[in-house]
Amino acid sequence: MTRGNPWASGRVLALPGGPRLLFGRMYEDPRVETRAFPAAPARVLCVASAGDTAAALASAGYDVTAIDVNPVQLAYARARLDGDTPAVAGSAELMLAAARRTAAACLPRWRAEALRGFLDLDDPRVQLRWWRTRLDSPGLRLLMGAALRPAGVLTAALAPGFRHVVPARFDTELRARVARVVARHPNADNPLLAELLAGGSPRPRAEAPPLRATVRFVLGDVAEHLEAVPAGSYDAVTLSNVLDGPGAAYRRRLRTAVERAVRPGGTAVLRSVGGTGGTAAAARASEERCPLWGSLYVTTVGGTR
Ligand SMILES: C[S@@+](CC[C@H](N)C(=O)[O-])C[C@H]1O[C@@H](n2cnc3c(N)ncnc32)[C@H](O)[C@@H]1O
Repeated sequence: MTRGNPWASGRVLALPGGPRLLFGRMYEDPRVETRAFPAAPARVLCVASAGDTAAALASAGYDVTAIDVNPVQLAYARARLDGDTPAVAGSAELMLAAARRTAAACLPRWRAEALRGFLDLDDPRVQLRWWRTRLDSPGLRLLMGAALRPAGVLTAALAPGFRHVVPARFDTELRARVARVVARHPNADNPLLAELLAGGSPRPRAEAPPLRATVRFVLGDVAEHLEAVPAGSYDAVTLSNVLDGPGAAYRRRLRTAVERAVRPGGTAVLRSVGGTGGTAAAARASEERCPLWGSLYVTTVGGTR
């Protein structure tokens, strides 16, 4: 039932072979969920991916089910929630590291030590000025254009099922998203921005107790799972990326499945990399501290907030 869904292959890059680890860490801001969701211990469903969202929700006291169609990703999330597996780089982190190395080699202000001063700022007005005058330079525009325009090196490296997902001028769009984030959220309280721009290891959960026992893991497609569980099984769901790839028919199917599996008045959160400025979902994405997202939907089953 996952035919036509590029996530089912477990690869985002056009490389041969079976499923791979795509995400070694999270790119969602879990504050979105903890603000939008009904109070813990509500029953919630998230995408497993690197396990961070599941960990954040389980730590906040939610009754968590984590699903992923990629078996490698699911095994990695399980192991990380056991607490004894360090984060490793997946395809996303390898691509981001290559982009950072190129930027640092070509643009002195993009070297890790120079970025530190920017990432330590806590006044959004000062941050925005710094971004516009020092970091968002003609050199950066040139590099991002070469990587992210439709025929750019990163866009061309994507598996065919994902090439249409990134907006046509993703270079311009992504620079606008970074500006939007730094204009709103203090950098000093934004680990998601620091990890994206400067890399480094995600903060370890070393002192936290293992969470695996408190999270149920499901291997499979999320629409299929929501169709199979009894109606009203969940109080909330959060489904980043699941519409980034499959077509309109999957979108309709997922919507119906969410409306059945989430109890009336429950919450659905959905993030997408796609989307450009001007829509309500794009405006809402500025609530996120991670600049990668183009659309953020927060819906009450039975009406939109
Ligand atoms: C960016 S991640 C979501 C991030 C995650 N919440 C975290 O904290 O890291 C995207 C994940 O969604 C999974 N996925 C995409 N579509 C899916 C679907 N229809 N059903 C189940 N998993 C899906 C992919 O395999 C991938 O691991």
